[in-house]
Amino acid sequence: MNALPLVAVTSPLPGSPLAMFEGRARVRVFRATGQRSESQVIRCLRGAQGALTLLTDPVSERVIAACPSLKVISNVAVGLDNVDLAACARRGIVVTHTPDVLTESCADLTWALLLGAARRVVESDRFVREGKFKGWRLDLLLGTDFRGKTLGIVGMGRIGRAVARRAAPFGLRLVYTQRTRLPESVESALDARFLALDDLLRASDIVTLHCPLAPATRHLLNRERLRMLKPSAILINTARGPLVDEEALVEALASGALFAAGLDVFEWEPKLAPGLKDLPNALLLPHLGSASHETREEMARMAVADCLAVVEGRAPEHPVPSEVKSEK
Ligand code: DGY
Repeated sequence: MNALPLVAVTSPLPGSPLAMFEGRARVRVFRATGQRSESQVIRCLRGAQGALTLLTDPVSERVIAACPSLKVISNVAVGLDNVDLAACARRGIVVTHTPDVLTESCADLTWALLLGAARRVVESDRFVREGKFKGWRLDLLLGTDFRGKTLGIVGMGRIGRAVARRAAPFGLRLVYTQRTRLPESVESALDARFLALDDLLRASDIVTLHCPLAPATRHLLNRERLRMLKPSAILINTARGPLVDEEALVEALASGALFAAGLDVFEWEPKLAPGLKDLPNALLLPHLGSASHETREEMARMAVADCLAVVEGRAPEHPVPSEVKSEK
């Protein structure tokens, strides 16, 4: 007879957090990485009481129904759009995630994209490597400055605010939008002015997305809204790909209706919309927002700790709030 609970981990974990299970749970780790189907996730989770899942694992109603022994889903991510929270709630499954720990890493990467897109960093690197640099020129690969421009933040949650805190030294004015306006004291600490989404899109020189993906935010930036952006504007997305109509974005970038985009996430991740990879004004990263050694190891540690807490009958530290917060 084996009294230890079984935990399924859908991917190898960075660092040493798996050792935390020793003597407390039996662990089944799946070595294959990459996008998994519902059936593959079911094969991973079946029979387990606890699960550590990634943001690429669809934890749908079907998966939940096929794994009746589950007590906890510990998602190694702050975003939860891959988990059917309502289905988990109906079956009494606790869902946990990894907020806060990745906030600063994600904000740093947002700024890497902002600077990279504004000053054409990757395009210029390619130019040098391809042997095209034949000497300094006044008009070579000109980008755009930040000073005096307006940065529009869509979703002023943890990551949005961390991005905002980095803006002052660049001389950017801040505007933001989200479902609920922030208290005046927070607005004035961040020196950020609230605008409705459409007004923010028209007023901003750079727009950066930091809201969660939900049915109401899918294609938040649809074709019509992308047309509201200035032709000189830059769009940054480190949140979730389906927030933007990617085909319409490709058209805007190709036609000069938009200066540049910096994308860490994609609508059909890991696939790209046709034409996107051929655009020199699209700076593309493979979903690296939280990808530092320190942050990823800490995310794994938090998820293991919360998973253990639930299978051992304790309250987890990072449960998903009953009303899922409106911002990441
Ligand atoms: C998350 O945790 O939701 C992020 O997208 C990871 O980078």
